[in-house]
Amino acid sequence: MASTKCEPGEGFCSGPLTRRLTAFGGTLSHKGRREVKNAIFVAVESEDAPAWYARFRAAAPERDVRRWPDKVGDAADIAYACAWKAPHGLLAQFPNLKAIFNLGAGADRLLADPDLPDVPIARAVHPDLTGRMVEYVVLHVLMHHRRQRGYDAQQRARVWRGLPQPAASEVTVGVMGLGEIGTAAARALAALGFRVVGWSRGAKRIDGVESFAGTAELEAFLARSEILVAILPYTAETRGILDLALLRKLKRDGALGGAYLINAGRGGSQVDADIVAALDEGALAGATLDVFPVEPLPADSPLWTHPQVTITPHAAGDLSPDALAESVVAQIRAFEAGEPLRHLVDRARGY
Ligand code: NDP
Ligand code: OXD
Repeated sequence: MASTKCEPGEGFCSGPLTRRLTAFGGTLSHKGRREVKNAIFVAVESEDAPAWYARFRAAAPERDVRRWPDKVGDAADIAYACAWKAPHGLLAQFPNLKAIFNLGAGADRLLADPDLPDVPIARAVHPDLTGRMVEYVVLHVLMHHRRQRGYDAQQRARVWRGLPQPAASEVTVGVMGLGEIGTAAARALAALGFRVVGWSRGAKRIDGVESFAGTAELEAFLARSEILVAILPYTAETRGILDLALLRKLKRDGALGGAYLINAGRGGSQVDADIVAALDEGALAGATLDVFPVEPLPADSPLWTHPQVTITPHAAGDLSPDALAESVVAQIRAFEAGEPLRHLVDRARGY
């Protein structure tokens, strides 16, 4: 006869056993009472998965930490799921789940799970991640501003020639998305002397940044932006927003003599074919793309070889498990002590 208990390390107790556990809500102790384990479950689908699990175990040595797919144990023990690219449907298997921690800033993949349990979702907001994203934005804004791709081409041809170099104070950078990351990036760009405008759903007050809000002010924002930095979440409203019509509205006749796009938000916000068209017709003078509608970017994409495109493999905000695991465990402890969860995802807004 099948046991009603399966231990961590025994694999995922699924199927009829899980259903039976769901029915009585947990593992029975020898006295017939349910042992509350409040286990932490780490479900990461990436090559960093072992590092995430190790880091959670180190951050919470006193806790029962499980991992997907080989150390799930009794599904009823799991109270907290820490997930990144977990298979859809997986989290619905845990009848006693209390919260989900999305191990990234963007929760779009998680929210697309049709069987996502109705528990609070906290997303990753961490100085480590914000700092890396700011570095990426600053690096690529400066690369376009300082004509580095032009100098790279000249170097390959052994050409010694200066290229026109406007001052940062003559150039306007538009930041689409003034959340945790966009605000920090906008501030860093303003500190470098750029004119900075920003666009978000609601108006913002950020020193050195002129705020535009909502669809009504999008055109005015674009008309000012010579370098457009997109750090938007992927939602029904931002899907495909970076299309040819939008790119044609950027400011081309500014000090840089052309418009540039940097997308470090989500690939679903951009239309790859429209970016190629915008480059080819001159609406864009260059682009840096970290994210794509299909990742990895298919080998036959014309973006790979386009002379005005810089590609990185969704690496702008590579997040350190060391930094985030500790902060998630700290949140779990605070939550169990009665504090509210922070950085909650609003399911209705989609971010
Ligand atoms: P936040 O949720 O803090 O900020 C999102 C911003 O986007 C907010 O300012 C929000 O406006 C704005 N926004 C959302 N929808 C709209 C809309 N329809 N129109 C106008 N503005 C909108 O997110 P983060 O700053 O933490 O992260 C942003 C995104 O960056 C993540 O969702 C993720 O997709 C991406 N990312 C990518 C990484 C990478 O490696 N490439 C790494 C980390 C994040 P409002 O403030 O008014 O709500
Ligand atoms: C994130 C990401 O959303 O890395 O954190 O894309």
